[in-house]
Amino acid sequence: MGVFPKANDRCWCGSGKKFKRCHKAATSPVQPGRISRLRPVPDSIVKPTWADGGHADRWDEPRVKSPEIIERMRRTGRDAADLLAYLGTLCQPGVTTEEIDAACHDRAIELNAYPSPLEYPGPVIAFPKSVCSSVNEVICHGIPDDRPLRDGDIVNLDVTLFREGVHGDTNATFFVGEVDELSKRLVRVTRESLEKGIEAAKPGRPVNEIGRAIQTHAEAQGFGVVRDFVGHGIGEQFHTDLQICHYYHPRLTDIMEPGMTFTIEPMITAGSWKVRLWDDGWTAVTADGSRTAQFEHTILMTDDGAEILTTPADTSTHPYWDTEPLSTSGVA
Ligand code: MF3
Ligand code: CO
Ligand code: CO
Repeated sequence: MGVFPKANDRCWCGSGKKFKRCHKAATSPVQPGRISRLRPVPDSIVKPTWADGGHADRWDEPRVKSPEIIERMRRTGRDAADLLAYLGTLCQPGVTTEEIDAACHDRAIELNAYPSPLEYPGPVIAFPKSVCSSVNEVICHGIPDDRPLRDGDIVNLDVTLFREGVHGDTNATFFVGEVDELSKRLVRVTRESLEKGIEAAKPGRPVNEIGRAIQTHAEAQGFGVVRDFVGHGIGEQFHTDLQICHYYHPRLTDIMEPGMTFTIEPMITAGSWKVRLWDDGWTAVTADGSRTAQFEHTILMTDDGAEILTTPADTSTHPYWDTEPLSTSGVA
């Protein structure tokens, strides 16, 4: 369902060649698959308001969190990160995204946590699964289904846990088998873009410095920055009103203060950054069918910069990286 260039149009990779002579073969569009029935969550797990068909209550949550809430967010964030790292090891040819979802769901429950995406309200349907799985040209919010991962795919898994009354939100893009060079560069530059955004996050600065740093890095590599989805304040609510754009937005001048918690989650495209939505109201794909990658951390603003709340305890469980660990990013 992704919309691809016509065979004789120029390819989105910038080679100047016709699409049919360039990335067409490598690009069989992701199609909507079959979605299995809702997985139950035991009554012993404390649930957010949207579980069991409820609404996502919104209230005026303080942007600066108490030390006690921050401690809870550290614990929930660390477990979300460890779960993401584990799910990354499952990204192998032949494994369906639904199997990855089942693993996420079961592990969340073992951790005494609710998988935040499950039943989160959307424009058409509530999100029916416990993790978002976004393959190739899917930018974000892909719904796990019966599609087996294929050699050469890239897949983003976005894990959010709710426990002790707070959310921890983190995602990463994984390689499935051997991927092409452009995809490798896209994934590396996206990870670097998150790192640049984190480095730009300093108390006293406006939040649009984050997007400026990300956009500068991604566009210097010839890549696009998705505008339609942004980072967000997070805490007792999954998404608060605080917006973190991943491109430079002159009017986003909220000043970063110690104690604030928010996500940075750039979505970077090999071609156009324009978005199309599937009929499910969730699955967002690039308008031109180009591949796209994303990385996300939940961060805490401290007196001297960002503390990452979603660093896994053991980064060696990330066998998919072909590059050096980055200095400030725990997901490396
Ligand atoms: N985790 C996503 C984010 O980074 C939100 C997913 S909403 C869902 O903000 F319902 F799709 F799960
Ligand atoms: Co997020
Ligand atoms: Co997320």
